[in-house]
Amino acid sequence: MTKNLLLCITGGIAAYKTPSLVRLLVKKGFKVKVVLSSHARYFVGETSLSTVSGNPIHWRLFPGENSTDHDIAHIELAQWADQVLVAPATANIIAKMANGIADDLISTTLLALSTPLFVAPAMNTRMYLHPATQKNIQTLKQRGTFIIGPDQGELACKTSGPGRMTEPEQIVEQLVNFKRKSKELAGKKVLITTGATREYIDPVRFISNPASGKTGIHLARAAREMGAQVMLIAGHTSVPLPDDIPHLQVSSTREMLKAVLDEFSSSDLIIMAAAIGDWTCKQQLKTKLKKSTQPFDFNLKLTKNPDILKKLGELNKKEEKSKYLIGFAAETVDDPEELIKAGKKKLDVKKCNLIIANTVNKENKGFQTDTNQIILISHQEHFLVPETSKAQLARKILEFASAELRKYRKTK
Ligand code: CTP
Repeated sequence: MTKNLLLCITGGIAAYKTPSLVRLLVKKGFKVKVVLSSHARYFVGETSLSTVSGNPIHWRLFPGENSTDHDIAHIELAQWADQVLVAPATANIIAKMANGIADDLISTTLLALSTPLFVAPAMNTRMYLHPATQKNIQTLKQRGTFIIGPDQGELACKTSGPGRMTEPEQIVEQLVNFKRKSKELAGKKVLITTGATREYIDPVRFISNPASGKTGIHLARAAREMGAQVMLIAGHTSVPLPDDIPHLQVSSTREMLKAVLDEFSSSDLIIMAAAIGDWTCKQQLKTKLKKSTQPFDFNLKLTKNPDILKKLGELNKKEEKSKYLIGFAAETVDDPEELIKAGKKKLDVKKCNLIIANTVNKENKGFQTDTNQIILISHQEHFLVPETSKAQLARKILEFASAELRKYRKTK
């Protein structure tokens, strides 16, 4: 199926490569429309771009005399696009995107998007490495934007380092791969849990953990991008839940169990990314536990919570394993061999199809962070995904799971 690709060209020298980028995209079957920033017009000609794309070029936010641009072009272009590519992306447009600034046709269009966004930065090395630019790129990655490059090499400003726009062939390859994979989960229902559960001791105190919910939210976004119908069941999260994805918020492990069981039978793929409390208070107090009434040391009686994933594994076994179950293994060991051992144990005990093992107590890994390193462990194989953003990890997990799901269904 033809995909509509909107190419936004901003004002960097690498803009001179965009006619060949457009030509390659058209060859690969994309319908291409181009928006130019006013600075990009110094680097590349509208006539070349309209000739290779076969479409008029847009650059005005408001229609000028004899203009082909519509007065709400930014909304129309955002709705037309199945995928958007910003190439070359200057430090300026990256900063605008990260901060929601909308002051020209490209930035207003980008703010009105709900489709996958690819950004190929190109700029001087110092500008690229500046903490402000790095922070802005990080912000975009966390939102699920795909950052392509930049490459290392000689730059137009006679310096050398990271900042060169990735070559058009490689950019196109990434877009084509995404296009091929993007609807892999069409027609499937994916149930995802995320965040931390809370077990209340009294009305004002609880036992919980620092899970942020970020991984589960990225999984929900990626599953939806891949065409799935998604349901997100969240415990407590430190980031807002996506308001464009159906979700339900719960608090305790038992509430999560009920919500998951309600959705289980209609789901094809279930991902238990929530950090679930293993124990609850034997007796939850109705009023605040007063300090003055307790001795210096005292015991809190806890009792085991149900293991939701284990229950799902058992249910799935009874129902002839029609569903694909993914669990996480949150461990405090860093050694890959130890992680694999712990993950395999959970894979067997909880009767699931895939375990994502990760270390949760190291810098840049596990709880609260924006990046992680994981080991995917199935019954047939295991492999490490090196440290990368949680958005990219979510995509990798779902790409693996959707391929497995197809194989798995065939053997059932
Ligand atoms: N899980 C669950 N119900 C629980 C505890 C965990 O469904 N009561 C799920 C988690 O969502 C995760 C997987 O089981 O997908 C493993 O959770 P983890 O915290 O790593 O391990 P536990 O099963 O709690 O075991 P342990 O604490 O001994 O590591």
